[in-house]
Amino acid sequence: MGSSSKRCLGAILVASFYFSTSLAFFPAHHEGESAHPVEHGPKPGLSPHFYRSTCPQADEIVVSVLKKAIAKEPRIAASLLRLLFHDCFVQGCDASVLLDDSKAVASEKNALPNKKSIRGFEVIDEIKAALEEACPHTVSCADTIALAARGSTVLSGGPYWELPLGRRDSKTAYMKLANKNLPPPNATLHRLVKFFGRQGLDKTDLVALSGSHTIGMARCVSFKQRLYNQHRDNKPDMTLEKRFYHKLASICPRTGGDNNISPLDFASPPKFDNSYYKLIVEGRGLLNSDQVLWTGKDPEIAHLVKSYAENESLFFEHYVNSIIKMGNTNPLLGSDGEIRMNCRRVNHVR
Ligand code: HEM
Ligand SMILES: *[C@@H]1O[C@H](CO)[C@@H](O)[C@H](O)[C@H]1NC(C)=O
Ligand SMILES: *[C@@H]1O[C@H](CO)[C@@H](O)[C@H](O)[C@H]1NC(C)=O
Repeated sequence: MGSSSKRCLGAILVASFYFSTSLAFFPAHHEGESAHPVEHGPKPGLSPHFYRSTCPQADEIVVSVLKKAIAKEPRIAASLLRLLFHDCFVQGCDASVLLDDSKAVASEKNALPNKKSIRGFEVIDEIKAALEEACPHTVSCADTIALAARGSTVLSGGPYWELPLGRRDSKTAYMKLANKNLPPPNATLHRLVKFFGRQGLDKTDLVALSGSHTIGMARCVSFKQRLYNQHRDNKPDMTLEKRFYHKLASICPRTGGDNNISPLDFASPPKFDNSYYKLIVEGRGLLNSDQVLWTGKDPEIAHLVKSYAENESLFFEHYVNSIIKMGNTNPLLGSDGEIRMNCRRVNHVR
C-alpha cells in the first residue's frame, strides 16, 4: 500500500470516528446549552476504559451491591434496567431521572410514566455511596445507571456487553420532556416507532429493547384498558389469548386494584431470556405495546419478533447492539455537566 493510500485510509478512519461520536450529540436538548454543540469542537467520546486508571474497580463495586440487592428482591434488577431507558429518552443519558424535586428542579419522577412506577433509587444511592468511598468524585451518576443496567441484565441471565463510559451528570431535569418522550403502554405500533425514531432508534431497536420486558412487573393500571375497554367499546382486546385474559382479569378488576402487579413475562419473571417473544406470538404479551409488535401489521417488526422467539442468541446479539446505542444518546462529555456527589441533587445550588 502506498503512503498516500495509507493516509487516505487514515482519513476515512478519523472521519468515521468523528461521525460516530457526533451521533452521540443528537438530539441535543440540554437547556441552556447551544443548539449546535458539535460546534464546540471535538470532545473525548465515551470509552469502555474510561475509568481504567481512575476507578478500575468501579464495575466490581456495582456488581457486588447489585448481588445483595437482587438477592433481597429479584425484581430490583428489572427496575434498574428500566431506569436507563427512562434516563436516556429524556434529554439523553445524563442521570436527569435521578434528581429529586427542589426549587430549581421539577423532578422527572413526577412525570406520568414515572409516578408510582419507577423505582430503584435507593439501590442507586447505595452503589453511588460505595463508588464515592472507593473513588471520590469520579464515577458519574449517569454511568452508575448504565453500569447498574448492564449488571442487572447479566445477573438475570441476559447478555454482557462492553459498556462505553464517561457520561457526565446534568444540572437539570425536564419533567415535561419525560411526559412527551416516554411512550405510554397503550401506544399503537405506529406511535411506538415514532417515539423510538425521535431518539435515533429504529424498528430493530424497538423490538430488541422491548425484550427488556422479559423481566419485571407492571401495574394493573398499565394494562387495564386491554381487559375492559380496548377500543372504547367496553370490550377486551380480542388479540388477548383467552386463558391469559381470565388470569389477568383475576389480578386486575374492572374497578380498583390499579396498583396490583403482574409479571411482564409470566413464563419466567426474573429470568432474562427470549420467552417474552414466545408469549407475544401466543397472544400472551402483557402490555398493548408488547402485543402490537406481533399484531400491529408491520411485517418487518413481526418477523423480528418471530426470529427472537426462535433464536435467543439472535435476540441477545441485537439486544446488545441496541442497548449500547440507546446508552449513547446525547451524553454530556468533557467538562459539560458535572460529577454529582449525591445522585438526587446537583452539587452546588446557587
Ligand atoms: C417500547 C416502549 C415501552 C413501553 C410503552 C414501556 C412501558 C412500560 C410500562 C407501562 C411498564 C410497567 C410500569 C408500571 O406499571 O408501573 C414497564 C416496565 C418495565 N419496562 Fe418498559 N416500556 C417500553 C420499553 C422499555 C425499554 C426500552 C426498556 C429497557 C431498555 C424497558 C424496561 C422495562 C422494565 C425492565 C420494566 C419492569 C420494571 C419493574 O419491574 O420495576 N421498557 N414498561
Ligand atoms: C391511552 O390511555 C390514555 C390514558 O388513559 C387515554 O387518554 C388515551 O386515549 C389512550 N390511547 C389509546 C390509543 O387508546
Ligand atoms: C441464531 O442466531 C445466531 C446469532 O445471530 C446465528 O449465529 C445462528 O446461526 C442462528 N441460529 C439459527 C438456528 O438460525
